[in-house]
Amino acid sequence: MTLTPLFAAVLGTSLAAMALLPTAALAEDSQTFERIKVEAGAALFDASCRRCHATDASHESYGPKLEGVIGRAAGSVEGYPYSKALKSAGFVWTEPALKAWMADNTGFVPGTKMRHVGITDPVVEEFILAYLRVVPAAN
Ligand code: HEC
Repeated sequence: MTLTPLFAAVLGTSLAAMALLPTAALAEDSQTFERIKVEAGAALFDASCRRCHATDASHESYGPKLEGVIGRAAGSVEGYPYSKALKSAGFVWTEPALKAWMADNTGFVPGTKMRHVGITDPVVEEFILAYLRVVPAAN
């Protein structure tokens, strides 16, 4: 994929943070590591996902809400006009499924109307997942 300057800058910062972590993580607890991942993930989500996926329920968004997506059935947000493909996909969003989706959503669910994103860097995938884990469940 082509990195936009913003995305490249965010990614650079995240990778720099990752590089510093081994020492920090030894001294600190794993909560610090998780918090840094969530912050990096939020920035990456801003750069790659938020323009279509609002996480604030008071905003309309082009894509379905992703609050509480981990453990939710695919294509199940009530009232959202999913593609037939996603609506009838018949699986639950697990972390491996979300990674496969980020890497190649149109290959993972052929016929989806989400534009191809193609995020294959495992570090970026892991950071975005860390963020998705803490986005509160939709009510
Ligand atoms: C250009 C707009 C756009 C971008 C950018 C985008 N999405 Fe989507 N996304 C959509 C649309 C539209 C759908 C509904 C797809 C369908 O119905 O086939 C969707 C569906 C999804 C779903 C399925 C949700 C469900 O309820 O089953 C997930 C998960 C998802 N996107 C994650 C992401 C992540 C993570 C990113 C950033 C890496 C991202 N999307 C970027 C538009 C987008």
